[in-house]
Amino acid sequence: MTRIAIYPGSFDPPTRGHEDLIRRSLALADRVVVAVATNSSKQPLFPVAERLALLRAAVGEEPRVTFESFDGLLVEFARRVGGSMVVRGLRAVSDFEYEFQMALMNRRLHSTLETVFLVPALDLTYLSSSLVREVARLGGDVSGLVHPAVAEALAKRYGR
Ligand code: PNS
Repeated sequence: MTRIAIYPGSFDPPTRGHEDLIRRSLALADRVVVAVATNSSKQPLFPVAERLALLRAAVGEEPRVTFESFDGLLVEFARRVGGSMVVRGLRAVSDFEYEFQMALMNRRLHSTLETVFLVPALDLTYLSSSLVREVARLGGDVSGLVHPAVAEALAKRYGR
């Protein structure tokens, strides 16, 4: 049986933290589907197609990882692609409440879909897409926090 993990998120933009989680997920699953949510209530900086392209550039050649966007409920997407687990990163206690609620709601909607929490590399625990956006918007250096392709896209977006 092929074990398929779904790694869902907004990835606006993808960070080194996301890349780290994708690589860690490969130790748990045969295949990882990175799933970019299209119906997020947040106003995104990058369109979904660009986020997918940036994720592909950041992860590089890895035949066990695929990238898709999804609309609607995550549990329906998981059913469609045959996913048996959802991977989410837990960076700090502050992430816990939201993540716990989401995991329990997803279980209510799909009782056999397990949520697995992974801890990112220590030097990436402070990292978030929103902080990266803010630093880039204000002209700070984001190299080291994101793949060069993402840094370039941010510079372009903020007219640098
Ligand atoms: O990177 P994010 O913004 O924290 O990711 C949140 C995401 C996209 C995983 C979550 O909002 C989600 O699963 N959205 C899809 C809609 C859905 O299934 N909502 C119910 C979750 S309990």
